[in-house]
Amino acid sequence: MPPASPPLVHTIQEVRRHLEPLRAEGERIGFVPTMGALHQGHLSLVETCARECDATVVSIFVNPTQFGPNEDYDKYPRTLEKDLEALAPYGVDLVFAPAVEEMYPQGFQTQVLVGGVTELWEGRSRPGHFAGVTTVVAKLLNIVQPQVAYFGHKDYQQSVVVRRMVRDLDLPVQIRVCPTVREEDGLALSSRNAYLSPQQRKQALTLSRSLQLAREMIHQGRRRAVDILAEMKKLYDQQPDVRLDYLAVVDPETLLPVEEVAGPVVVLCAAWVGQTRLIDNLRVEP
Ligand code: PAJ
Repeated sequence: MPPASPPLVHTIQEVRRHLEPLRAEGERIGFVPTMGALHQGHLSLVETCARECDATVVSIFVNPTQFGPNEDYDKYPRTLEKDLEALAPYGVDLVFAPAVEEMYPQGFQTQVLVGGVTELWEGRSRPGHFAGVTTVVAKLLNIVQPQVAYFGHKDYQQSVVVRRMVRDLDLPVQIRVCPTVREEDGLALSSRNAYLSPQQRKQALTLSRSLQLAREMIHQGRRRAVDILAEMKKLYDQQPDVRLDYLAVVDPETLLPVEEVAGPVVVLCAAWVGQTRLIDNLRVEP
């Protein structure tokens, strides 16, 4: 017999009702927020959560407010049945998949806004994106009230923004950031990879290859960010169907660009492959 699908609820009230007895027993509740279309990247977070906590809660919600007007909200993959099957082996205690009206009922008018770190990189390319992310994550954390919440390094800036929000608002939750899961050839797993044609799938490797190049250069003793970025950029220039959005070598905490690599850095990249926008990053220690 295949393992049974986890219990699924759609309302905030049901989440509260389900978790109340667990909390009363003093169970450590872990939470993995997602937008569904689950792949091994998401599942690695679920696995870590299940290992580290007594109870694991997963949310599946394609949050409209973090998509720009010309972004892929409508075509974003929605695969709830498959997602529940994928979660079955992990002993997930609860899946919360609310409707948009449950999260944003008539009259909703509050936003959680983080400054500074949201103004760079993804924030610049996707205005309003992080306001949508922080507002929904704050709501989800309040609904589930976990002791620990799990995020992926894949969306590195998001993890920095969420940590900032949690510190600034004194939210009683620990944020754990887990490693990026990649395909064998290096491509970071992403729900958006489903949009790529076989040809584009190959071109998408430019992102991870450029990050590997940056790592090699730093490990070989290169320190000047401009030199590293120039070499990385050449890889994109060789791929006419890949359009670079940004490349940066940044401080892991502030996300500000560094001129010289003197300590750990995160190398960030974002690029369009056809109509699909992909991001990736790599932490490198000199
Ligand atoms: P989503 O893109 O579904 O990602 C959910 C979580 O999975 C995020 O923390 C993301 O960083 C992580 N993740 C995605 N791909 C990964 C990979 N290849 N390796 C490791 N982790 C990976 O990020 C969101 O949803 C939303 O913004 C959300 C936080 C749910 C708020 O709506």
